[in-house]
Amino acid sequence: MAELAATPKKSSLWAKHAFFEKNSIWLIIGILLVISVGGLVEIVPLFYLKSTIEKVSGVRPWTPLELAGRNIYVREGCYNCHSQMVRPLRDEVERYGHYSLAAESMYDRPFQWGSKRTGPDLARVGNKYSDEWQRQHLADPRSVVPGSIMPGYPFLEKTPLKFANIGEDITVNAILGVPYTEEMQASAIADLRLQASPDGDVDDLQKRYPGAQVRDFDGNPGALTEADALIAYLQALGTMVDFKLYDDKANIR
Ligand code: HEC
Repeated sequence: MAELAATPKKSSLWAKHAFFEKNSIWLIIGILLVISVGGLVEIVPLFYLKSTIEKVSGVRPWTPLELAGRNIYVREGCYNCHSQMVRPLRDEVERYGHYSLAAESMYDRPFQWGSKRTGPDLARVGNKYSDEWQRQHLADPRSVVPGSIMPGYPFLEKTPLKFANIGEDITVNAILGVPYTEEMQASAIADLRLQASPDGDVDDLQKRYPGAQVRDFDGNPGALTEADALIAYLQALGTMVDFKLYDDKANIR
């Protein structure tokens, strides 16, 4: 028993700490205090930087049709299996292309980065496949990718797109800081219709939304369906920034 007696004498510091260990409420308050100091040190400087998001050219707000498609993407829970963020790791950059920049999703409310990747990352999927492929894949994934475990969404091409509220949707995004102009808000429904039809005057639309792809996306020019919107959105993903300008930074090997 002699060794036990060699336990160090209780210091005054120990006595102070014993107070916290014996009073759980004070322990919780103490933990919160310590954590918030750590948090503030990390977060506060961000508010004093001129810009926390690297400026890149080419990123524009979603067109009304793409925004409607994005709403369907969120509604159907595509984010449960697909991320939209290429991480700066060699295997990802080799598979998907340039790693994602914060600026690319700065107009996404809410963003779709995701952390679950049952299927591939979709941040760069725009223009990777034809509309026809996207159509068939959405309706019946196994008809184009035999081993696929993705569920089919055959109802999308049969469901007329509801877009009566797209103007309000754009207004809300504008309130949240997305730079939609009043003109864009006012012409939302006309722009949405125009983007899904191949024969309108597209110059105006592309002036408002540079690079917007204009065509019938669902292979059925007679109907404006949810597939039109979702495919327009998928075909726009990752196409706004010209990454040739950023090649130096892509060279992270
Ligand atoms: C249960 C998980 C799951 C859900 C939910 C899901 N997917 Fe997928 N998705 C996959 C898997 C797995 C693949 C890879 C095999 C394939 O191509 O079908 C894939 C592939 C894809 C691809 C091709 C990507 C590429 O680069 O080849 C697209 C585009 C896609 N999904 C879009 C969607 C959309 C849009 C939705 C929502 C309407 C959705 N997915 C919902 C699992 C899912």
